[in-house]
Amino acid sequence: MPKSASIEDEITQAAIERLEQGADGRLRDIMISLTRHLHGFIREIEPTEEEWLAAIRFLTETGKKCDENRQEFILLSDTLGASMLIDAINNRKPSGATESSVLGPFYREGAPDYENGADLAEGETSGERVLVSGKVIDLDGAPIAGAVLDIWQTAPDAIYAAQDTSGTSFNLCGRLTTGDDGRYWFRTRKPVSYTVPGDGPVGAMLKAAGRHNWRPAHIHFMLSADGYETLVTQLFTDDDPYLGTDAVFGVKDSLVVHYDKADEGLRLDHDFVMTAAA
Ligand code: BEZ
Ligand code: FE
Repeated sequence: MPKSASIEDEITQAAIERLEQGADGRLRDIMISLTRHLHGFIREIEPTEEEWLAAIRFLTETGKKCDENRQEFILLSDTLGASMLIDAINNRKPSGATESSVLGPFYREGAPDYENGADLAEGETSGERVLVSGKVIDLDGAPIAGAVLDIWQTAPDAIYAAQDTSGTSFNLCGRLTTGDDGRYWFRTRKPVSYTVPGDGPVGAMLKAAGRHNWRPAHIHFMLSADGYETLVTQLFTDDDPYLGTDAVFGVKDSLVVHYDKADEGLRLDHDFVMTAAA
């Protein structure tokens, strides 16, 4: 079929020029770039009308799956690697600083404050016992006193407190504060691998793409201290089968840690290096 030359050749420039006539600023730049990339994508893929409609249906279903407890669009961003790219761009760190990873949807604000040495898994009857300890230091190795570590992880049944429907559980969540020597330590259970929600359109997309929805076992940390950049990160277990295929691309080599055998259970020793606030 002969193509409709004028529209196919000119529509991208026309759409960009329409935006260029609008008000200057960040939104205009974003919309122009979005238009250019979207048109480039369409020109590369040449979707059929059925495929384009299927894409619109997919996005519609993604929106419908969202409510106050479920954010399917964030999951889409996570599973496409976009969240980790946004994280990387916004959290560039000097060499030697602890690297960041995604916050994820299971952070629950308001976790209880504990003394160092506390057991965040009190009441858990299964899972391998772990003593986690280390220091919070600056780039010169000096201890950071008064740093707050907000910690959350899966229980041995692969569920986060934030997934508890009563909305009140803080199981395996807690906040610790470093002393003058920068040290922190707490007891917990070894985290386990778990699946990100697979019962929605994003789960269907992963399946259709031949991907799984597992995340390798990890403990989440959000560290804050006066005068330092807040650090959101995760520590991944080095013997996890999903380390190389994390559904949300959150793993960085420097965040993979080893649990040593100890007299009572396991031991994990890890220092966090924070960067001074700009
Ligand atoms: C998490 O680590 O909790 C997480 C991150 C991204 C998507 C789903 C879960
Ligand atoms: Fe997680």
